[in-house]
Amino acid sequence: MARQYYIAGNWKMNKNKAEALDLAKGLVEALKDGKNKYMIGVPYVYLDAVAQVVKGSNILLGAQDVASTGNGAHTGEVSCAMLKDIGCGCVILGHSERRHEIGESDELINKKVRKALNSGLEVDLCIGELLSEREAGEAEQVCAFQLSAGLAGVTAEQMKNVTIAYEPVWAIGTGKTATPEDAQAIHKFIRGYIAKLYNQEVADNVIIQYGGSMNQGNCEQLLAQPDIDGGLIGGASLKAETFVPICSVGC
Ligand code: 13P
Repeated sequence: MARQYYIAGNWKMNKNKAEALDLAKGLVEALKDGKNKYMIGVPYVYLDAVAQVVKGSNILLGAQDVASTGNGAHTGEVSCAMLKDIGCGCVILGHSERRHEIGESDELINKKVRKALNSGLEVDLCIGELLSEREAGEAEQVCAFQLSAGLAGVTAEQMKNVTIAYEPVWAIGTGKTATPEDAQAIHKFIRGYIAKLYNQEVADNVIIQYGGSMNQGNCEQLLAQPDIDGGLIGGASLKAETFVPICSVGC
């Protein structure tokens, strides 16, 4: 099964405009011959400026959230149509920081997933368990629930535009990475669960990224696992020197 590696950077709430443009320019140049799929998740206010930089390159522009509704009286929200209008092709949804800091529910995440897919945006759907859930032996159960709730109403055809990012919450920004074996075990479970929700073909084709303290030092071992098809990278995506080596795996 030849799934392409998909390496994505989630910039979260970092950088000023000049820094965002600098990083985007550096990545366009450094990755121009890269063989993998690439995406950067940029803060809303810099999306339009960064869009001009990545236009025509092999880097997909991603947002870090989107409204669950269409345009209208929704103060503070940004719609899928607005994102598409400025050249954004993807949105990260269900990130643990939105689930646990902002309190986004699986129901709301699912509305956003469906809205984004119906609007023609790709979705990078994040799932993953808390440390307490892992210690209680509930990691698989949590991932299964977040998958079935997050993907409710999403068709097998639409799954072509869905990437799953498994991000164990205890590994995000902590320097603690799941071992390649532990990560592989849960990625395999996730793929099997997608086969149950859809069918084997959908499961074989879906890209499942790992996220949580992925860096230059651990990415090769993680990405060598049969069911780890890429990475969603936070801290190490904020500098070209630390992100490009991850992007170059397999090239
Ligand atoms: P870190 O790579 O900083 O652990 O963040 C991972 C993440 O949350 C990406 O979405």
